[in-house]
Amino acid sequence: MTSRGMWTSRMGFILAAAGSAVGLGNVWKLPYVTGTNGGGYFILIYLVAVLALGFPIMIAEFVLGRNTGTSPVGTYRKLAGKGSPFVVLGWMGVAAGFIILSYYSVVAGWTLHYVILSITNAFTGREPNEIRALFGDLYAHGPLNLFWHTIFMAITVAVVLGGVQKGIERSSKIMMPLLFLLLAILVGYGVFSDGFGRTVSFIFLPKAENLSAKTVLEAIGQAFFSLSLGMGAMLTYGSYLDKKVDLVRSSLLVCLMDTGVALLACFAIFPIIFSHGLEPSAGPGLVFQTLPVVFSDLPGGSVLAVLFFILLFFAALTSAVSLLEVVASYFIDERTWNRRRATLLSGTIIFLLGIPSALSGSDLLSSVTILGRNVFDTMDNLASNWMLPLGGLGMTLFLGWRLPSTVSRSEFCLGSRHSGMYRSWITCIRYVAPIGLSLVFLYQIGLLGS
Ligand code: PFF
Repeated sequence: MTSRGMWTSRMGFILAAAGSAVGLGNVWKLPYVTGTNGGGYFILIYLVAVLALGFPIMIAEFVLGRNTGTSPVGTYRKLAGKGSPFVVLGWMGVAAGFIILSYYSVVAGWTLHYVILSITNAFTGREPNEIRALFGDLYAHGPLNLFWHTIFMAITVAVVLGGVQKGIERSSKIMMPLLFLLLAILVGYGVFSDGFGRTVSFIFLPKAENLSAKTVLEAIGQAFFSLSLGMGAMLTYGSYLDKKVDLVRSSLLVCLMDTGVALLACFAIFPIIFSHGLEPSAGPGLVFQTLPVVFSDLPGGSVLAVLFFILLFFAALTSAVSLLEVVASYFIDERTWNRRRATLLSGTIIFLLGIPSALSGSDLLSSVTILGRNVFDTMDNLASNWMLPLGGLGMTLFLGWRLPSTVSRSEFCLGSRHSGMYRSWITCIRYVAPIGLSLVFLYQIGLLGS
């Protein structure tokens, strides 16, 4: 057990789990999908999903991982039996790890490019539309994307090679609080800008025309993605945990931190969009096209810009590390490979898989679409909106209906001062989460009207 590695402290574990949750999903993805979905309902459903699905499912992942002390595939094998169909859930988690990290690394590469742009003062003295054009140039530049994708994957592999304690835990401890602080400063700027009033109504006023099955599914997908749920990342982190940790409290803290950063990011970005007359639905480039405009405007902005993109890079790294860890832990636990071989091989395959996403804005691939989406969006849609919520649904069915309640109860209560919450939790896992998720899927595939 110890040869797999363990967290050194409860705090270290919580920060690493929060490090997995807080990432590009909060700062890059939430604002842009909120924009493309018209705000309002999207945020409301996202918040409800965090509370009603995310929080209980995070506890569920920790319960399963800590109980078996092994990777997602091993967990289902151990608890459901070798040939059980539930083992497919573990496989789907590993597949989702491959897919998500392949394009996640491309976006993380953009943060590195923006670190360089900030260091070289590329935003100072420029008009907002010139600053925005910088992103378009990067997106269309295949070799540059490929370069940063390579660098980012190499760094991620290096951290995971370091193992659970030294590599993952250490890097989370310093960077997370700093990111929070910097976002708070940017929100402070937003509060005093012209766009703040419109931001509040855009984010909090639901408009009926923006409610559709697609919006609901994307909001739920975003909650899963942002909290790193549905593919066994939290399960894997739970497997390195000792029995003294309170799983309910830990999950609550991680959910609060993640949602806090996500909302801060929206309040940092939307005021700029509205005060500059920009479109909230600009898509994946949104953060990169908006925040530099503020940096070019603020005294000391170029220093803040460097700091911000470095922190965003670290937020991406701690999440990427958890994605690679899911894949590598499969080979380590199930194939008894050593960490080095498992990490290098998984990292290489993911790197190769990411090449089409890295080139998706270039001349070579920009015209290639699959069901109306480019390669990059297809990967994201498949993983976030389908695989993660389906993985979550399968997990609730397994935990709620297949696993003996003596097992779930004793693992839930171990180390916890919240044992009294077991009944509400298991009710949510048995009924609320599976019924809610199934309805959304039935709507989405058109079986319940739309
Ligand atoms: N939660 C991460 C983010 O918000 O950027 C992304 C992620 C990490 C998703 C790990 C899934 C996962 F297993």
